[in-house]
Amino acid sequence: MAGFRDYYICGFVILAFSTGCAMSSASSKTVKGAYWPSWAVNFPPSAIDTTLFTHIYYAFLAPNSATFKFDVSDSSTARSLLNFTSTLHSKNPPVKTLFSVGGAGEGHALFSRMAATAASRKSFIDSSIEVARKFGFDGVDLDWEFPQTPKEMDDYGYLLEEWRAEVEKEAKATGRPPLLLSAAVYFSIDFFLSNVRRSYPVGPVSKNLDWINVMCYDYHGSWDTSKTGAHAALFDPSSNISTSYGLGSWIKAGFPRSKLIMGLPLYGRTWKLKDPNSNGIGAPGVGVGPGNGEMAYSHVERFNVENNATVVFDLTTVSTYSYSGTSWIGYDDVRSTSVKITYAQLLRLRGYFFWAVNSDYNWKISKQASKLWVRR
Ligand SMILES: *[C@@H]1O[C@H](CO)[C@@H](O)[C@H](O)[C@H]1NC(C)=O
Ligand SMILES: *[C@@H]1O[C@H](CO)[C@@H](O)[C@H](O)[C@H]1NC(C)=O
Ligand SMILES: *[C@@H]1O[C@H](CO)[C@@H](O)[C@H](O)[C@H]1NC(C)=O
Repeated sequence: MAGFRDYYICGFVILAFSTGCAMSSASSKTVKGAYWPSWAVNFPPSAIDTTLFTHIYYAFLAPNSATFKFDVSDSSTARSLLNFTSTLHSKNPPVKTLFSVGGAGEGHALFSRMAATAASRKSFIDSSIEVARKFGFDGVDLDWEFPQTPKEMDDYGYLLEEWRAEVEKEAKATGRPPLLLSAAVYFSIDFFLSNVRRSYPVGPVSKNLDWINVMCYDYHGSWDTSKTGAHAALFDPSSNISTSYGLGSWIKAGFPRSKLIMGLPLYGRTWKLKDPNSNGIGAPGVGVGPGNGEMAYSHVERFNVENNATVVFDLTTVSTYSYSGTSWIGYDDVRSTSVKITYAQLLRLRGYFFWAVNSDYNWKISKQASKLWVRR
């Protein structure tokens, strides 16, 4: 890792030079995305500052587990979907809207069954297009976490292939722009930490999706309380569990940079320290910290002030952590996010996205990210 500090310091220099001149002639426009959790009752779509984003994802919808069709006859879901798209399309400026299917809470069993046969894939695909059009969405995002076996990875590929074909067919038939198709994916193209080795099918994924949202976070958390960790580390000198490795794995496999979107967390993960005086990254932990292991960035800022926490920017991992007594929080703030945004541009990625739009603190991070993104 010896060179990486030079690398990103050099990045700032390049960035400074590139402002105001054409750094690239990217044919595809920048994506500044964010997921909106539909359960965020105190944060309606109208609260989103659309000057900072290009695409907002409605999280989440799940198809029926028997028919694999979306059942949106329930009037509160229908109202919520319509409110989302009509609010965000009529804002100044408007943003594009996608609904995201699944999510971590959904698990993988339903997707596994849905993708296993051509007939069930077709039910799902047709219903997704119908719902997107009916409620005025610009696209659909697949958040299958995660295909479990090589066979499910093949099915994932067939699903994308057939989905794209139907989307194109529908666009031709109706004369409308085709729906956008995206997916939230694992930080690395292969599941190298799992006993069941498997990789995303790079051909079908790159050919059939407009882009992928790479989930560059959750590397450490409440599932391992024995030591603290930077849950969205850009670099990790001692393992491959890092954003630089993950994005690199996609690029190395031939996935186009113009379809890669870097994930950024607007939340921290927390630990209870064994010893308040041993408080770095990798310090011994004895359990989860405040917020039962997870804390929105806005709450982290408040926690730090209220508890007079010590805040440390860690150059090695490019992350931030804070501690007070035995409470320890690993997260990203404006500074660590800024370095990541620079890094993403050096890699010539298409853009970035946040999980989740309701967790920023006075739009501090979202504003800085949007401002620093000089490529168009
Ligand atoms: C969306 O819902 C909010 C209430 O949460 C309401 O004030 C607003 O008028 C609705 N907007 C649209 C376009 O339906
Ligand atoms: C990281 O991955 C590379 C291959 O991509 C491998 O050669 C290397 O041993 C891995 N490093 C660690 C620490 O696992
Ligand atoms: C806050 O912490 C600093 C050390 O980090 C200490 O010097 C200061 O006295 C503390 N202030 C309060 C109000 O506890």
